Amino acid sequence: MNQLANKQILLCVTGGIAAYKAAELIRLFKSSGSNVRVLMTEAAKEFITPLTMQALSGNEVHSDLLDPKAESAMGHIELAKWADAIVISPCSADSLAKLAGGRGDDLMSAVCLAADSKIFFAPAMNQAMWKDKRTKKNLASLKLPIFIQIGPNEGDQACGDIGPGRMSEPKEIIEIVGKEFSSGLLAGKKILITAGPTREKIDPVRYISNKSSGKMGFSLAKAAMEESAIVQLITGPVNLETPERVSRINVESAQEMCEKVIESIPEIDLFISTAAVSDFKMKDIKKNKIKKEDSKSFNLELEKNEDILKLVSKDNPELKIVGFAAETENLIDNAKKKLISKKLNLIVANDVSDSSIGFDSDENEVFLISEKEELKIAKTSKEKVSRKIIQFISKNILDD
Ligand code: CTP
Repeated sequence: MNQLANKQILLCVTGGIAAYKAAELIRLFKSSGSNVRVLMTEAAKEFITPLTMQALSGNEVHSDLLDPKAESAMGHIELAKWADAIVISPCSADSLAKLAGGRGDDLMSAVCLAADSKIFFAPAMNQAMWKDKRTKKNLASLKLPIFIQIGPNEGDQACGDIGPGRMSEPKEIIEIVGKEFSSGLLAGKKILITAGPTREKIDPVRYISNKSSGKMGFSLAKAAMEESAIVQLITGPVNLETPERVSRINVESAQEMCEKVIESIPEIDLFISTAAVSDFKMKDIKKNKIKKEDSKSFNLELEKNEDILKLVSKDNPELKIVGFAAETENLIDNAKKKLISKKLNLIVANDVSDSSIGFDSDENEVFLISEKEELKIAKTSKEKVSRKIIQFISKNILDD
């Protein structure tokens, strides 16, 4: 289980010899699937370079409170809102004093004042400074549930002293931060979702497509992400915003969708195919616009597209796969046939002849059919339907 997947971590590095450990901390957060931004105090830059932090985190380093450029891009309020957790590591005696005093005269203290997330801090200082009454007093005011203290450990210090004040090891910090996030049902699972219609070109100005809006696939992507899954969405042309923390690939034709799906398969634990893939494409896409001339009727020669779902299940017998069945008649029977013929773990059947729950609607009513179980999800918003589908998948498909 990986509770840190998809989490947005703001790592604040303050001045101290332990600043070098921040590099390892970034690496560990990133390998747990977190998105990391780094904030450095001026003193921190004396110990480790912003360039190192930028290269490791993959994001620009934040330092200035009053830099107009930074404020217009991601200023202190945005940074505070962005963070799911703030981790101050190492946290110097001076930074402790600033936090305790509720100061806001540098970027780190201002962000911590504005934040509504938890603030983890890993003190690191000389043992005498750690034992000092003023440090103790400052510490006493940094209380749960907002502030969570990590360490320090005892041992040899850079200055030659022995005693308390060594920063906790990055591994311990990661573990404590991870525990604070309630683990989602799909924590650490990698999920691929296809959504929307595909478009099959006829000529430079025309195409064959269908009424799919992509709403079901997008809301499933959001529901999976909210349960801490790492979600890859491959979508045909739709007019929808990408859910936060979901990575999106746009495609047009069924063939393009098929290629992108096959590329992603080796990485994933579960494939959910909600896309309304065009069953047919033009045998020969016309280079120039077709002219109507005098003809009263017109024939298009079509050929079958690859059935992406069938291909994936044939080539990946171990993979967990969920399909959708869009039907206008014999809903359950037709869906069961697809469950078997496409070798799926679950099929979600919906009646697209009813426009109140059909393609472009915000609501849906579906039947979940697996080999062992059937469940009706009565008409409700696509968001709620998605959450229920994800719960069902987590309990009955992935836990098998
Ligand atoms: N599907 C697919 N590739 C296709 C056609 C469908 O991956 N070329 C997937 C859909 O994403 C869905 C499932 O197969 O998960 C069933 O799609 P549906 O359109 O209901 O059925 P079809 O298999 O196309 O069969 P028919 O159109 O005859 O009902």
